[in-house]
Amino acid sequence: MVKNKVTLITGASGGIGCELAKVFAQSKHDLVLVARRVDVLQELAVELGKEHNIRVYVIGMDLSEGGAAAKVYDKVKELNLEVDILVNNAGFGYVGLFHEEEQQKDTDMLQVNISALTELTKLFGRDMAKRKEGRILNVASTGSYHPGPYTAVYYATKAYVLSFSEAIAEELRPFNVSVTALCPGATKTNFAKRAGRRDNSAAMEPKLVAKAAYKALMKKKSVVVPGLANKLLVILPRRLVKGMVGKYQKRLSKR
Ligand SMILES: NC(=O)c1ccc[n+]([C@@H]2O[C@H](COP(=O)([O-])OP(=O)(O)OC[C@H]3O[C@@H](n4cnc5c(N)ncnc54)[C@H](OP(=O)(O)O)[C@@H]3O)[C@@H](O)[C@H]2O)c1
Repeated sequence: MVKNKVTLITGASGGIGCELAKVFAQSKHDLVLVARRVDVLQELAVELGKEHNIRVYVIGMDLSEGGAAAKVYDKVKELNLEVDILVNNAGFGYVGLFHEEEQQKDTDMLQVNISALTELTKLFGRDMAKRKEGRILNVASTGSYHPGPYTAVYYATKAYVLSFSEAIAEELRPFNVSVTALCPGATKTNFAKRAGRRDNSAAMEPKLVAKAAYKALMKKKSVVVPGLANKLLVILPRRLVKGMVGKYQKRLSKR
């Protein structure tokens, strides 16, 4: 019997993570779903398991707690599973003045958006490198490309995710492990509400973001920015800066 691939997704209880779970389920992957809201995960697990005839496991975990990534890894081992695809999607942000916000919010955000993602990548990436097979999808943001006043820590965490992912994509390539950074722009999820931000009417549907991510992951692309407007948002400022720097350099070099 051919074994299904096993995909572990953090933050699968809503938004982009939930849509990613649906996309992988449609492709007959067995799933390990991780988040804090176990009841929501369990409902999704039953739905996807029945609809696609796959195995779906649920791990309730608060990734803002130190050591959470190692606990997730140990639970996967207890279940006797090998993770073929790791999706580090869990994340959150807040809008506010950095110096006025509680330190705990920043500490939790750094833990979820950076530390847990890094640790899970190391633990599962190490196994994948040994097996010489695997794929990792890390969810960054279009905010990875520029600073974000009033969301300073969040944007900085996403700059880390992109830089880290692009670097280890190169390191892991010889081990046949691909790393893809997903950089969504505003997406219609609970993210904005949780962050204390207004909804953006131009936001993308999470289903479309998930589909673009899956396609890029399968093609082993190192970065994917879903949606034309988001691509322009990322590419145009870089082109503009390049042009300006080019002109400046030309002036400097003029005799
Ligand atoms: N929506 C956007 O506009 C946007 C744009 C760019 C990037 N992103 C990124 O996309 C990813 C998914 O966000 P989303 O838009 O789908 O937001 P969302 O609907 O708020 O979903 C966030 C997911 O992360 C999980 N999560 C949050 N804190 C957690 C914790 N401490 N421990 C475990 N899981 C936790 C949540 O599950 P529980 O609450 O059940 O724990 C939920 O499943 C995030 O990394 C976000 O930064 C979003």
